[in-house]
Amino acid sequence: MAKPAVRYVCQACGAAGPKWAGRCEACGEWNTIVEEVPRPGPAAAKGRAVEFVPLAGSAEPPPRAAVGIAELDRVLGGGLVPASAVLVGGDPGIGKSTLLLQAAAALARGGQPVFYVSGEESIEQVRLRARRLGVTEAPIDLAASVNLRDIAASLDGGRPPALVVIDSIQTMWLDQIDSAPGTVAQVRAAAFELIRLAKQRGFALVLVGHVTKDGAIAGPRVLEHMVDAVLYFEGERGHQFRILRAVKNRFGATDEIGVFEMTERGLAEVANPSALFLAERRGNIAGSAVFAGLEGTRPVLMEVQALLSAAGGGGAPRRQVIGWDGGRLSMLLAVLETRCGLRLGAVDVYLNVAGGLRVVEPAADLAVAAAIASAAGDRPTSAGTVYFGEVGLSGEVRQVAQAEARLKEAAKLGFDTACLPRRVARGGRVPAAPEGLRLVEVGHLADLVAEFSERERSG
Ligand code: TYD
Ligand code: MG
Repeated sequence: MAKPAVRYVCQACGAAGPKWAGRCEACGEWNTIVEEVPRPGPAAAKGRAVEFVPLAGSAEPPPRAAVGIAELDRVLGGGLVPASAVLVGGDPGIGKSTLLLQAAAALARGGQPVFYVSGEESIEQVRLRARRLGVTEAPIDLAASVNLRDIAASLDGGRPPALVVIDSIQTMWLDQIDSAPGTVAQVRAAAFELIRLAKQRGFALVLVGHVTKDGAIAGPRVLEHMVDAVLYFEGERGHQFRILRAVKNRFGATDEIGVFEMTERGLAEVANPSALFLAERRGNIAGSAVFAGLEGTRPVLMEVQALLSAAGGGGAPRRQVIGWDGGRLSMLLAVLETRCGLRLGAVDVYLNVAGGLRVVEPAADLAVAAAIASAAGDRPTSAGTVYFGEVGLSGEVRQVAQAEARLKEAAKLGFDTACLPRRVARGGRVPAAPEGLRLVEVGHLADLVAEFSERERSG
């Protein structure tokens, strides 16, 4: 029999080629190409005809098993769906195992059979964590194994569980595949087998996947198209907040987030993230502005901080951003310079979204601009004001989605003023102001900037 052809597969993007190379031509990553020997497939057999059905027919919404952790259930779209696969990705050490052990315990306490398979930690280590989290009495079936054939065998018979957690998919090893655990070939084959079992036996499958920035091991990216939902668990090291974000969900909305706080006894749900993110804000400091943001369906207020300092001679001034898009900051700085006459060419600009949040909404433009204008004029924004609105290249302030929800959240947290784009009727009505909230409509960014410089002149 002919030797199967060796392929060289990029562990970052999955591209395959006939030759080894130091750098992947498809994605540009370095040192990610690994030799893989494909296993010979079974002899070709004639397939059976698939069954075609009419489009019309009953389509019930999928039944769900609520886990009982509200922040997690929301991100899942209401709970775990039987016979589905969810990938939970995140940096090592971010808290994936903690979150999933807590979730498994919550479901098991509710009377559902749960399997937890740890490929990274020993039984003893998982038990230690369970003790720390105070969930030792939860009736979870725990196993420590990396051998996928054995794991599959135990899932194939008996009463199927409601949930199977595999922590992590990168440690799983299928003996038919001639490459190391963690390679694209292994990760894909192991996930494929587990997902097949989940669909066949009707359990919800949660795969844990590490994401590493250098792409040294197969990132869960290669799995994203195989699973029904992809959740990322993120947060800045050194911050106690953790955010669970849905980036794909066949059974619910994406961009939904769950907010958790790390404690010694595990992850605690944060039902009111705005209050938490604003807890350490200090009024009367120039360069800070509160953004009325939206995370999924939920409005979240957060503090944007800008610091300007004289650029140390020579070279381009620094632009450092944490929690926002650097390209967007450059654009906004250009608009502030060109359309609003703010001189920023010779200063270093540092921008930070406090609390370790990562904002992707263009609606943050107005808050970022306010923080920068406030820093430039050395005048604090009013402590009772929130900002939201997108800024266009000519400096015009544009509408953003869900103005009413943002205003409501601001009012709820005791803010008295909202700076927002000119309101226009949407769906036949103009967004209303909640009681006690004064609305300041901003048509052009220059009007906002003028407020900080005028106050400087008069003050
Ligand atoms: P862990 O859940 O093991 O992270 P991952 O599975 O993503 O690699 O958590 C990492 C460490 O952080 C672990 O030593 C426990 C600690 N930790 C807490 O003390 N409290 C918490 O709420 C969380 C999430 C983690
Ligand atoms: Mg872990």
